Amino acid sequence: MITQVLVLNGPNLGRLGVREPEIYGSVSFDELADLCRSTGRALGLHVDVRQTDDEAEMISWVHEAADARIPVVINPAAFTHYSYALRDALAMRTAPLVEVHISNPAARESFRHTSVVAAVADGTVAGFGLVSYQLALQAIAELVADRAKQAERTRP
Ligand code: DQA
Repeated sequence: MITQVLVLNGPNLGRLGVREPEIYGSVSFDELADLCRSTGRALGLHVDVRQTDDEAEMISWVHEAADARIPVVINPAAFTHYSYALRDALAMRTAPLVEVHISNPAARESFRHTSVVAAVADGTVAGFGLVSYQLALQAIAELVADRAKQAERTRP
């Protein structure tokens, strides 16, 4: 059975390739989306990649994932550091959740050292460029498989 996964990207990530390439690299958002879809395919996942600069739209996608029990990989971009609204939405999750970052926020400006969403995620992958997304999708595949095994074990 194919597992659906949402890969959600926050503000300014649509500008990948032209945005501070010394930090975020020269690969475009469309190329990142292709990489996520092909990585997902190899893991047996159907990956839907989205990007928004709008907090309300991001929160509506998180609600959609919670309602449909869809696992999420999220790069909340700058929302990471201050959006309690996004954090509260993510806390309602009903499936695995992995936070992802291209750069390593812990090694950058101090305002990036806080993630208000990290505590409601299963884990965070940061600092590996676009490979962070591939590792996050691998983590989702493992978490989904673990949950399926657990459900099998507890079935009467
Ligand atoms: C980012 C790190 C954030 O601090 C920043 O605001 C971003 C991108 C990353 O992927 O490295 O927009 O989430």
